[in-house]
Amino acid sequence: MSTSNETRIDDAVAALRRGEVIGLPTETVYGLAADASQPAAVAKIFALKGRPADHPLIVHIADADALPMWAATIPPAARQLAQAFWPGPLTLILQRTAHVPDTVTGGQDTVGLRCPAHPLALQVLRAFGGGLAAPSANRFGRISPTTAAHVRDEFGAGVPIVLDGGDCAVGIESTIVDLSGDTPRILRPGMISQAQIEAVIGPVALGSGVHSPRASGTLEAHYAPRTPMLMLPRAALENEAQQQRALGKRVALLALDALPADSEGEILPNEATAYAHGLYAALRTLDALGANLLLVERPPEHGDWLAVHDRLRRATVGAGADDDAP
Ligand code: TXA
Ligand code: MG
Repeated sequence: MSTSNETRIDDAVAALRRGEVIGLPTETVYGLAADASQPAAVAKIFALKGRPADHPLIVHIADADALPMWAATIPPAARQLAQAFWPGPLTLILQRTAHVPDTVTGGQDTVGLRCPAHPLALQVLRAFGGGLAAPSANRFGRISPTTAAHVRDEFGAGVPIVLDGGDCAVGIESTIVDLSGDTPRILRPGMISQAQIEAVIGPVALGSGVHSPRASGTLEAHYAPRTPMLMLPRAALENEAQQQRALGKRVALLALDALPADSEGEILPNEATAYAHGLYAALRTLDALGANLLLVERPPEHGDWLAVHDRLRRATVGAGADDDAP
């Protein structure tokens, strides 16, 4: 066992140089990281995740100075957003350079780039010196990990080195902004909101758009528990829970602030940032109960909650599937 942080980081960097995959904490979710410049290393990520080869990965970099290595065109908006939000939970889609292997982008002419805010991730990136391709460290279509234990549960001996950076502060994946076309567009909402982005670069479209590149975060079924899942307002949720129990079903609840009497489940705060922080861990705990049905209390609809609703909607669509495909 390694003892100090320095030893762990040295081991991790050595493994990355050998073309191995490691579990890496970021402020959003844990990633499965490999050297983005080694196609064979990147291929291992796809094999571990069971992810289709045409779903592109995000390349993580130590700072905006590394952009020219990966991005052929760096529009002013990219510089402004990097300046405002990096290190942080924001991914920029830009035209790629020839340095970016096809395995990373699924053959597309664009690449996703992000500088993560987690101190361990930054230490690894600085010591490593290159870019790290890293998707969320979950099997394709399943719930993203927010602790090192989640990554170990999911991959076990398949990923021997998992750096433990504690609980992810943000808890849901980065906001993805596509700056590769004529109009800036948010492809995946996250805790950096449309309003925050517009305050820096002006109007931004929302949604995948007809011509935007394929993004697995835009597939309907994603982030999904194995237990069938239904989202309802509080009163309807309590009724449904009673009815299901009367039918002999075991029901697990995900409630805001407090559980109804005599029910089992998890509670999350009625505040978007805190809710996002706890969401994936709560879904994992609930899924492990082996209930017949997971009932989720519908959170508020206003602006702050957009990214949470996005993840809950996808989780609901994919829930109950008995394999890893969405
Ligand atoms: O917060 C995050 O972004 C986390 C942490 C580990 O950094 N990573 C993450 O990676 O969520 P992943 O692979 O689970 O999701 C990346 C998303 C996918 O939906 C992928 O399709 C999209 O980014 N993406 C990557 N490159 C793209 C590109 N060139 N064009 C469009 N979408 C892209
Ligand atoms: Mg993912």
